[in-house]
Amino acid sequence: MPEDWAGLRAAVKDCRACRLCETRTQTVFGVGPESATLMVVGEGPGADEDAQGEPFVGRAGKLLDEMLKAIGHSRTTNTYIANVVKCRPPQNREPADDEAETCRGYLEQQLRLVKPKLILALGRTAAQRLLMTDDALSKLRGPVHRWGPDATPLMITYHPAYLLRSPGEKAKSWDDLKKVHRFLNA
Ligand code: URA
Repeated sequence: MPEDWAGLRAAVKDCRACRLCETRTQTVFGVGPESATLMVVGEGPGADEDAQGEPFVGRAGKLLDEMLKAIGHSRTTNTYIANVVKCRPPQNREPADDEAETCRGYLEQQLRLVKPKLILALGRTAAQRLLMTDDALSKLRGPVHRWGPDATPLMITYHPAYLLRSPGEKAKSWDDLKKVHRFLNA
């Protein structure tokens, strides 16, 4: 696994390690300052991201940007955004086990390079993959977890695509974001 940003970026760009490379338009690496204090992790690129090469640029991405803005965060100033898989799964299906595992090293290296103060996992797939558990989102959301060799704090909230489908859950997500804000400003 390349140890620096340039090497990692190049490795992802040409990656053919799983079948998702056959249907992608391009890889979607990540976006944001390389020394961000907050690192947000989603599931995988959708159609808009596959077309533009940047994570969270579709409808869910607009909502994510609004959520981040409410706590003084953005992808241009202090937040790095990446996904569990770097290539769009066909029909926006959930990444398969082998696809997520094949891609794991890239995300882990991004996390190690950014060294955020806090990781925010969006939705079940990101939470389960980062924490290597099958526990339900309802159980995972709430406590502060720890990730990786430095035991980086990790919080979990709903995926913005889910919030678009279930706007009634936005209040709970807002509670999570307030917690993120308090944590980062403590
Ligand atoms: N959903 C995700 O999980 N990631 C994206 O980049 C876009 C939508």
